[in-house]
Amino acid sequence: MQTTANPIIIAVDGYSSSGKSTMARRLASAIGYRYIDSGAMYRAVTLYALDHELIGADGNPDIEGVVAALPLIKIDFAVQPDGSQHTMLNGEDVEREIRRLRVSNAVSPIAAIPQVRHALVAMQQALGASRGIVMDGRDIGTVVFPDAELKIFVDASAETRAQRRFKEMLEKGSQVSYEEVLANVVHRDHIDTTREESPLRRADDAIALDNSSMTLEEQDAWLLEMYNKTIAR
Ligand code: DC
Repeated sequence: MQTTANPIIIAVDGYSSSGKSTMARRLASAIGYRYIDSGAMYRAVTLYALDHELIGADGNPDIEGVVAALPLIKIDFAVQPDGSQHTMLNGEDVEREIRRLRVSNAVSPIAAIPQVRHALVAMQQALGASRGIVMDGRDIGTVVFPDAELKIFVDASAETRAQRRFKEMLEKGSQVSYEEVLANVVHRDHIDTTREESPLRRADDAIALDNSSMTLEEQDAWLLEMYNKTIAR
């Protein structure tokens, strides 16, 4: 069996609100790997664009403006005392801000800009250079780390995913309706799967997981089994 001396890369891709971040974070913590939420990076760029009036009232980004701003956008992750990570945008903790519906509603068109993707993919590849990483997103197994040793593609119905996101947002005190959240999920699925640049799709060698009726514990056990099988190969 391999040890941590031979760390691997684990790619977790899937639809929005499929629970991939929770699963990737828990797996990383169980096996002592670093966890990176690539969606947070697209959200941070979106927050920057919103705050600098680079997104019109119609939701369409000023593509040239966003591309020109890319060199000014610095994204980091700050590890908290409890082990969680907060997304930092130009030195400011934006973890809460990037989860708001204002950002969720604006992020897909930003993530569809090829230059934004190229810049973030390069950062993601640098973060994974020493391996020992679990990264979640949409194109991690297909574009960012096509050579990842373990690739998981998470699926669940749009309703299940909207229900989860709705509950999460209520707990955080957001004033949203289930219908708004479902509409956002369906809309993002559409943009994420139909965009020209690296659309969301399952890598041929990814293992599919429909976690609609799985408990967190069952999911943890399944992931650990996949990890153990992979490192034993
Ligand atoms: O996982 P999330 O919902 O936080 O992702 C936010 C947005 O970023 C989502 O609309 C898809 C996009 N995204 C992407 O295009 N590629 C990734 N690797 C991660 C996220």
